[in-house]
Amino acid sequence: MSAPGSPVEVREVWKAFEQKPVLCGVSFALAKGTTLAVMGGSGTGKTVLLRIVAGLLRPDAGQVALFGTRIDTMREEQMLALRRRTGFVFQGAALFDSLSVFENVAFPLREHTSLSLGDITDRVHRFLSLVGLPGTDGLLPAALSGGMRKRVGIARALVMEPEVVFFDEPTAGLDPTNARLVSELIAKLRAGVCDTAIVVTHDLEFAEMVADQMAILHQGRFADVGTPAEIRRSTSHDVQRFLAGELRES
Ligand SMILES: Nc1ncnc2c1ncn2[C@@H]1O[C@H](COP(=O)(O)OP(=O)(O)OP(=O)(O)O)[C@@H](O)[C@H]1O
Ligand SMILES: [Mg+2]
Repeated sequence: MSAPGSPVEVREVWKAFEQKPVLCGVSFALAKGTTLAVMGGSGTGKTVLLRIVAGLLRPDAGQVALFGTRIDTMREEQMLALRRRTGFVFQGAALFDSLSVFENVAFPLREHTSLSLGDITDRVHRFLSLVGLPGTDGLLPAALSGGMRKRVGIARALVMEPEVVFFDEPTAGLDPTNARLVSELIAKLRAGVCDTAIVVTHDLEFAEMVADQMAILHQGRFADVGTPAEIRRSTSHDVQRFLAGELRES
């Protein structure tokens, strides 16, 4: 695949479940240093696309490359090294319920590095402070608000200092105050530790705040891709319906 320097490249990706088509030829390239917001109604395949791009799910057809190397045909063990250069923030935070906040964030470091306990502790504290949760080490996920859980999930995804981060609905299911906090956090992270990202979201205001490029997924394809200003002016009927709120829940 081409696009030199593009950390994520997707070409003509197809995916169906039990004969039901979900993705029907999605193509895009993510440029280094940019954030792409993928938007679309509920059930349109945003999570499926993100999982395919992150190497967590295989497409039925098409090509997916991470850091210039095709992963769709790669064996699982080989893919791990590439996947480790990425971070994934799951839709429901997906914390380990029996582990403390500290252990949740330390988990990738313990699994994938040989850092000493002192270095792990420093690194975990640095990332917990970054997401606004210093001093929460000993808490269990059940003691956290939804917004705090999301922020721990973000700290865990960032602690390995990935080159690309995939966020799946980071503001969904939060009250307006927490949604704003998480939006502002992601906007802040863009200027520092995470400048290349794909953000899946229903939240148009949030997308406009963090994205250089926006793509609207509709009926298995990107109805349009462009800057937020270009998307606002899109001549696509489906994009305009999405912006008008008609396609958010489908
Ligand atoms: N493992 C699976 N097995 C069968 N069907 C699946 C599977 N994963 C996803 N689907 C189906 O694929 C479609 C797209 O799902 P996906 O989770 O990607 O939607 P989404 O756009 O992320 O929705 P939401 O905004 O609600 O999170 C849905 O119809 C879903 O039921
Ligand atoms: Mg989803």
